[in-house]
Order: sequence, then C-alpha cells, then structure tokens
Amino acid sequence: MKGKFFIQTYGCQMNVHDTEYMCAILNKAGYAQAQTLKEADIILLNTCAVRQKAEEKVYSFLGRLKAFKKRHPGLIIGVGGCVAQKEGERILKRIPYIDLVFGTHQFFRVAELIEEVKKNGHRICCIDYTYQLEPPCHVFPLSHKMYGRAYLTIMQGCDNFCSYCIVPYVRGRQISRRSENIINEAKRLLDMGIKEIILLGQNVNSYGQDRLEEISFSELLFKINKLPGLKRLRFITSHPKDISPDVIKAFADLDTLCEHIHLPVQSGSDRILKRMGRKYTRSEYLQKIEALRKACPEISITTDLIVGFPGETKKDFKDTISLLQEVEFDAIFAFRYSDRPPAKAVSFPEKVNEQEKAERLSEVLEIQAPITERKNRVKKGRLLEVLLDSYSKRGQQLCGRTRCNRVVNVEGDESLMGHLVEVIIEEVLPHSLKGKVVKILD
Ligand code: SAH
Ligand code: SF4
Ligand code: F3S
Repeated sequence: MKGKFFIQTYGCQMNVHDTEYMCAILNKAGYAQAQTLKEADIILLNTCAVRQKAEEKVYSFLGRLKAFKKRHPGLIIGVGGCVAQKEGERILKRIPYIDLVFGTHQFFRVAELIEEVKKNGHRICCIDYTYQLEPPCHVFPLSHKMYGRAYLTIMQGCDNFCSYCIVPYVRGRQISRRSENIINEAKRLLDMGIKEIILLGQNVNSYGQDRLEEISFSELLFKINKLPGLKRLRFITSHPKDISPDVIKAFADLDTLCEHIHLPVQSGSDRILKRMGRKYTRSEYLQKIEALRKACPEISITTDLIVGFPGETKKDFKDTISLLQEVEFDAIFAFRYSDRPPAKAVSFPEKVNEQEKAERLSEVLEIQAPITERKNRVKKGRLLEVLLDSYSKRGQQLCGRTRCNRVVNVEGDESLMGHLVEVIIEEVLPHSLKGKVVKILD
C-alpha cells in the first residue's frame, strides 16, 4: 500500500461520479481510502464553481488545511474539478501548500499526476481539455456510493452558454460518448446487481447532437430500457429546449423510466429568459409540462430557479411567482443570482442588490413550501416502491427513493439494503417521507 487518500467532493452528481472514478483509479494504483482526513497522506478536493458561495467553500476548506500540512510535511494536497479548471495556475500562486491542480478532463490521470508530484517534487497544474470521456477499462468495477443505484455519464460539457452560467467554461464543449460504450457500461452495472441507472450530463437530453452518426437521446433511453435486469432508469439534468416529443413519449412507454423529471426553468419572465439565453419562452415551457403530464399523469416535476438576475424587475419576479403557482412543482431549488466571470451576465447592467435578492428568495421559498407539502401529503397511506440505497443521516434508518424521487426513511435490517421494497407511507415530513416495509419486491 502506497498510502491513504481522502477526497472531499462538492457540486453536482457529475462530480460525485467523477470522485467514484478517482477512488477506483487510486485503489488500482495501490492507495487505500482513508476513513478520516487525519489519516490521509493525500487529500484531494473535487470542486464546484457554479456559484460564488460554492467556490468560497473550497477556499475555506483549503484554508483549514494549512496548519494540517505544516504538521504533516509529506502530505500531498490536490485540487480538481470545476474551480481547478477555472483558476488553474492561480491556485498554485495563491496557495503555496497546494501540490497539484487538475481540471475536469484530467481526473482519469489523477494517479499518474500524484506519482509525478512525488517523484519530481514539482507542483503541477494540468487543466487541458482532452475531450476523452471514455473511462480506462482497468477502473472497472467501480465501487458505487449508493446501494443498488449507479451513475452513468453519457455526455459532458455544454454548448448553451446561458448568460449567467460558468459550466461551459469549466466543463468545455458538449461531448457525447458513443452509445455502444454507454450500453456496455450499463450492462456491466446490471451484471453487478445495480437496479437503477441514472444517466448523467450537464445537458443530458442534448445527447448525440454533437455526434450526428449517433442515435438520439430518446433512442438511447429505449435501448437501455430493454436491458435485462434494469428496474429503474433516470436522467439528469435536462434542458427544456431539448425535451422532444420522443422524450415525452418515453415517459409514457418505458416501464423502467421513473416518473420524475428535473426540468430547470430559471425564470417565469420571458424578458429574463431571453436575457439568460435560455432559448424557450414561458409558454413553451408550460406546453412541455402539460405534454409530460399528459403522457405520464403520475410524473413528479422539479425545477431550478434563479432570483435577482440582472435587470429582473418586480414585475419579472412576479412572473416567476405566478409560474410556480401555475405549474405546482413537486419541489424546487432556488438560488440568488451570482456573478460568475467570464459568463456574459457579469457585464449586464441593473444588478439587483443582495437584500432584494434575499427577499425574493424567501418569497419564492414561502410560495413553494405549501405546494411541496401538499404534493407530499397525497402520498400518505399509499404503497410506494422504494429502492433502499443508503443509511439515514444518523445511521439508524434505511433510506431510499420512490420512483417519483421522494426520499423515504424506514426501520429495517441492513440486509434490505440495495433491495426494491414496497413501503406503506405513514408520515410526511417537510423533506422526506417515513414508512414501513411491507414487502420485498426483488
Ligand atoms: N445544466 C443544468 C444546470 C447547471 S447548474 C441546466 O442547464 O439546467 C445548476 C443550477 O445552478 C442551474 O439550474 C441554475 O439554477 C443555478 N445557477 C447556475 N449559474 C448560476 C449563477 N450564476 N447564479 C445563481 N445560480 C446559478
Ligand atoms: Fe449552464 Fe445553461 Fe449549460 Fe445548463 S444549459 S450548464 S445552465 S450554460
Ligand atoms: Fe458545479 Fe461543475 Fe457541477 S460547476 S454544478 S460541479 S459541473
């Protein structure tokens, strides 16, 4: 054993999955995973840059490592992911005790890069875009963070350049994997006993648009749906403009496709949507919601919203509130607009002040809370299928998700972990449901 590593992960599911790859690569290279930070010889951060706060968290964690490194001079500290991609060499200049900076296309090389730091004693920054999305064969099988469910990256990057967003600058241009490789990876997951596959991409439903020889996203869904052993299929995150009639049809036709879609709307005002560069109008978005509900009446719909985008007037904001009331999402994630250079909106005039943003955020959450509660309350007394995939925060209960993506906690023996069970819902809490297992389904 060469030493122990500890990885601190921030950000979206893509980062969580990239960390799973890094763990596998480091294991194969002879390193063991440390249970705590204190026992680690290598500390890596997989970072997120989507909002300023996310980036601040990274620097604050790195700040805390300063004294730690002093006490452990041989310790290697590496920063990967989206902040690494964005800042590059600047991180090495700013923080003298960082040894390694590696970008969003470099994480497959993490073990080599660490060897290089060790051998030459140099500090390294490697943030080239390689556009190599295919994981090296030797990393498989991965050990997955959750029981029974696994992520599968089908595309990376984004070509949309929404004016507020840093993702295209830190993940690069959109690149789709070959469907053959995706399907082989899905088969490998199913052979391992995985029951639920979550397809990942920054714009998962734009899959294939950069590879004209490839099948479309909906065709990919149809193909994966047919694989023996698959019980559940999900995908995240979708762009409303690319929700095609075929994808909507998939919700009606595919028995593994779970009744949930996360469809970020960002704003209810056409004027703001235009300035954001979202390429759809409020009414187009609403039409898609209607079609999805028609195809799949049980579908649960969640969204992301930004409040206080530059130039958002009280009237624009009211349009967002009225959209929430009209759609009645199952849940929302709402954020205060944050300047992310080099995204275009940084230079937009009429910035909304922080206090106004905070007030708008509270108002949005206040409007949504009773809607979410009402939508959850309907589940009380119902029998729902749950895949038990993790332990609850305090570790005493088993935790899983329904097909409609509600978190459910149950009492039970750990032998149930990774199983699909039927649960009777007994209690509805603000962010989760509680119930009793009545039957094992697989
Ligand atoms: N690819 C996804 C979302 C990526 S980022 C999509 O296209 O929808 C996740 C969420 O962060 C976004 O949906 C948006 O609501 C929020 N976000 C992105 N940039 C932001 C910014 N500059 N300020 C505040 N929120 C932002
Ligand atoms: Fe960002 Fe827009 Fe791309 Fe989503 S679609 S990652 S919000 S630029
Ligand atoms: Fe954050 Fe990068 Fe994901 S910026 S949201 S970790 S793509």
